[in-house]
Amino acid sequence: MEVSLRIEAMLGEGPRWDAAGRRLLAVDIEGRVLHRLDPATGEDRPLELDERIGVATPVEGGGLLLALERRLALLDEATERLRTVAELPHGEGVRTNDGACDPAGRFFVGTMAFDERPGGGALYRYSTSAGLELVCGGVTISNGLGWSPDGRRMYYVDSPTRRVDVFEFDPGTGGLGGRDPFARIAEADGIPDGLAVDDEGGVWVALYGGGAVRRFASDGELDRVLEVPATNVTACCFGGENGRSLFVTTARQGLGEEELAREPLAGSVFVTDAGVAGPPARPFVP
Ligand code: BGC
Ligand code: CA
Repeated sequence: MEVSLRIEAMLGEGPRWDAAGRRLLAVDIEGRVLHRLDPATGEDRPLELDERIGVATPVEGGGLLLALERRLALLDEATERLRTVAELPHGEGVRTNDGACDPAGRFFVGTMAFDERPGGGALYRYSTSAGLELVCGGVTISNGLGWSPDGRRMYYVDSPTRRVDVFEFDPGTGGLGGRDPFARIAEADGIPDGLAVDDEGGVWVALYGGGAVRRFASDGELDRVLEVPATNVTACCFGGENGRSLFVTTARQGLGEEELAREPLAGSVFVTDAGVAGPPARPFVP
């Protein structure tokens, strides 16, 4: 695994391949920065924000949709102006975390309490026509989201459950059906965090505290383990020209001085050839 973007992110998160812009988006939630990296040149265009940012997603036709601490906003990249499109109903002490668009371009975004209190988070769905809707309450740390290649299954992680779950998903309406456990992570292997689904239906799960990304085949069997040179692995996505680059974000938070000395690259974005391609970020359809 190589370094793709050397940064000291406190909580690097939300890698997303923006196919139209041929660039990688990633955030530092606690550092309040949006990174926009051109991997061909190595040039990053960081945008500093006044609020925490959970994730950014490309918008069809241009611009970005940002999940800020307590609101969703459209970013006009030319003027750097933000326009709020939805307010999240939670009060202070709760923030957005991971989010992604379904195959039809509806934005799903989760939340968590700063103190990680059980049930302090939720999962929402946002579209221009329906606005912001609660789809799942009683979540603790809403994390990875992804869809099977046929769009009929939605994978979802509420981190403290130590599971990746799978929902039946209606691609026509964006509605969730039955929920079942898909994969389990033992305590010694870290906490399941962000995820990405490849073109064969394999599910790649970042392991926070586990220094690795694991691929589970579509039947839930563990298939591969990729080691990452940082303990707190937060999320991953497919991208690059052939869709086979797996970009991986990491965090420095929670590491002591000695640990940081042992893993000086913690906080950086890493990349490796996954040997299988996966889709770019589905843009939000306004
Ligand atoms: C959250 C972190 C949390 C981690 C592991 C991340 O998505 O943003 O605050 O520590 O998941 O559960
Ligand atoms: Ca995450």
